[in-house]
Amino acid sequence: MKIRAAVLEQFGKPLVVQEVDLAGPKSGEVLVKIEACGVCHTDLYTASGADPSGYCDCVLGHEGAGVVAEIGEGVTSLAVGDHVVTLFSPECGQCVNCKSGKTNICTAIREQQGRGYLPDGTARLSKNGKELRHFMGTSTFAEYTVMPEIALAKVDREAPMDKICLLACGATTGIAAALWKADVERGSTVAVFGAGMVGLGAVVGAKMKGAERIIVVDPSAKRRELALQFGATEVFAGGSNGAAEVIEATAGLGADYTFEATGRVDVMGQAVEAARLGWGKCTILGVAGRGEKLEIIPRFLITGRTVLGGSFGGAKGRTQVPLLVDMYMRGELELDGFVSHYLTLDEVNRGFDLMHKQDGIRSVITF
Ligand code: CU
Repeated sequence: MKIRAAVLEQFGKPLVVQEVDLAGPKSGEVLVKIEACGVCHTDLYTASGADPSGYCDCVLGHEGAGVVAEIGEGVTSLAVGDHVVTLFSPECGQCVNCKSGKTNICTAIREQQGRGYLPDGTARLSKNGKELRHFMGTSTFAEYTVMPEIALAKVDREAPMDKICLLACGATTGIAAALWKADVERGSTVAVFGAGMVGLGAVVGAKMKGAERIIVVDPSAKRRELALQFGATEVFAGGSNGAAEVIEATAGLGADYTFEATGRVDVMGQAVEAARLGWGKCTILGVAGRGEKLEIIPRFLITGRTVLGGSFGGAKGRTQVPLLVDMYMRGELELDGFVSHYLTLDEVNRGFDLMHKQDGIRSVITF
């Protein structure tokens, strides 16, 4: 079929929105009509050419929600008409990692997905007979996409797509980290470094868990203001001083839980340092550049701090994203405030500009 999609043709150049070809779903695959899609930093990062594992030509986008339009052979867990959230992190339920219950890092399709192909090693996307690759196994900057069944989370049909698409990446990363990965305790003190989408998600999750104090550290005054709206109780500007500010605000102790959501290794170091002696838990969520190293003073560990991390906040996509959607529908989980701009697919490059300018939190493309 012919669809419109935003294609990365050249690193460092604007995406080109155009008509491309999409083949139907093969065995174990599903055709999804995309209804809404967030514009995320990972898209921008790949488009810029800074990601050494990036590839093009490809259709970008990975924060999608939509409706199942057609199922391939052997697909049993989804039917036409089901509403789904796309997952760059699949959950096959069969591999050693999935079966362990201890991790969300499913190994079923990792290798091909990393190269931009569907699990069988081929692409469904093409233009004039020339293959286009599938970004993150999702390619949601498009009217339709074909994805593996194991990379789609079936969710409540009543849920608004233009909000729950955020649960495909950024929002879930922060929220799941606070709810499940770090498992924030009621009455505790939390410090969040970085108040972008992921950091604010951690604030939302910490608040849901009943944290008493939520300290947010971010150099941007606008973002500190937003953090207060999302439930931060105190905010600091950070910079090289971030750990010291948190330690001082907690009578020299540090926070019970710290979250890092910047991708900067110096800030990760601050988040470790700002975790409380004895039991402070530091959760690393930002993605650092390849080859960068996080330095930790061993004394911080020997005196009882724990450092952990999790891609997608450790969330198991097919199991836990539907739970988050249900929480949203019950009014327990804040998502609406994350959407700052609505765009059309043709305006996708404007979404990147807004991100460069740090204007708002998330732009959402609706179809
Ligand atoms: Cu993302």
